[in-house]
Amino acid sequence: MTQFPDVKIVQLFPWQAPGILRDPLAFLQQQAAQHGDFIQYPLNVATVYHISHPAVIQHVLQTNSKNYSKDTIQYNTLAQITGNGLLTSDGRSWFTHRRLMQPAFHRSRIESFGETIVSATAAMLDRWQAHASSGAPLDVDAEMMQVTLEIVGKTLFNIDLRADAPQMTHAVLDMLAYVVYRAQNPLALPLSVPTPRNRRFQAAMAQLDHIIHRSIAFRRARGDRRADGADLGDMLSMLLLARDEETGQGLTDAEIRDEMITLLIAGHETVASALTWGWYLLALHPAARAQMEAEVDGVCNGRLPTTADLDHLPLTRRIFDETLRLYPPAWLITRRALADDVIGEHTIPARSILILSPYVTHRHPAYWPDPLRFDPGRFEETAVKERPRYAYIPFGGGPRLCIGDRFALLEAPLIMAVIAQRYRLTLLPGHPVIMGPLVTLRPRHGLLMTVQPR
Ligand code: HEM
Repeated sequence: MTQFPDVKIVQLFPWQAPGILRDPLAFLQQQAAQHGDFIQYPLNVATVYHISHPAVIQHVLQTNSKNYSKDTIQYNTLAQITGNGLLTSDGRSWFTHRRLMQPAFHRSRIESFGETIVSATAAMLDRWQAHASSGAPLDVDAEMMQVTLEIVGKTLFNIDLRADAPQMTHAVLDMLAYVVYRAQNPLALPLSVPTPRNRRFQAAMAQLDHIIHRSIAFRRARGDRRADGADLGDMLSMLLLARDEETGQGLTDAEIRDEMITLLIAGHETVASALTWGWYLLALHPAARAQMEAEVDGVCNGRLPTTADLDHLPLTRRIFDETLRLYPPAWLITRRALADDVIGEHTIPARSILILSPYVTHRHPAYWPDPLRFDPGRFEETAVKERPRYAYIPFGGGPRLCIGDRFALLEAPLIMAVIAQRYRLTLLPGHPVIMGPLVTLRPRHGLLMTVQPR
């Protein structure tokens, strides 16, 4: 029988709100350290739970996932960008779209993306040459954002975003900053009021929508199917040709737009954030960096890495796994209980809000000895088997598990290998690196680094 921890009831007071909003991660960590793995906050608006225990997390995300929806401030504000896309929708619409999109993430298809990933990264490194020669610092965070956006556009939608990538990256960042602001200020003026902030958001959204609708219109006009009627193999083509099994109806342009924007956002900012923190950690741990360089050199012997090489780059992969532990891009996962639910001895009332933080659980000393130590060895096979599955949730779990987990686990180590082969990145002395728990976990002031050829 599963052992669940007891619930600790903790009162929160209004004067704590500014501190919580200023540094939610410190608050969540400190509460978990003080009150344990299963905390209840009886607030006026709703009963709120903070859960850090793997067994309770598993119950919510997997065992009884049907009882927990995404009707929370976190997802409702994000839905202002992603509409009814996979990340923020629930119920039948989520289920039909997930079933429709799943084949595009099949292993064989994901593995075929390797070449695109490697060539986009190699092209980025050519652009770094000027920085390597002059010693001028490079914002590695911005670079990771651009290359991952370009990759997701090309691999999933077969659209070339090279020309649009810098503006799109800006637009996405403006939009996500707005989402964070709205989540923290629920009483802010509605979007219909033309405040400078609202106008900036609308302009960014219009820019992104324009690029997306342009691709949908182009592909619809082209017919977008093979002679035998089959789709062309990329996500956009699948979405355009998809028909509901029961009604025979296709997706509207608005539905396709929501899914495209969801994948563009969920599929690049997360990977970029993890890569950025990866370079930060490697710069702080030169011995691990040297081992990774040696691994890549030994396997690739000067030629560019390929998908097939990943099986022979276990340390590179473990460094990425450990980065996702210490700096999980999705640092917050929230749910709302649809009906009463019993977990162990405790009844969760309907409409309660549940807060899960991969960041807190990944630093739980019961599952991660000496949790702040960077140690890729934690991801050796035997060590992984000894831990509960839900002690490590960078991609969530259960039916709402990240659809792009395999994609990310192919893409990020490949990008790391291509970069490590050619350049060594070091931190710029004096540049402040401060964690910003925004929609994803990002360095608030970017990550300025210098680039040295190897
Ligand atoms: C390191 C990279 C990534 C991380 C850390 C990450 C994390 C997550 C997490 C934690 C969830 C579950 C959220 C929840 O349960 O509330 C999720 C869902 C999702 N992710 Fe990712 N993700 C990553 C990469 C990607 C990529 C590459 C794509 C697409 C190309 C993607 C698309 C999605 C979508 C569409 C969902 C919603 C799935 C559903 O509910 O059916 N993600 N991701």
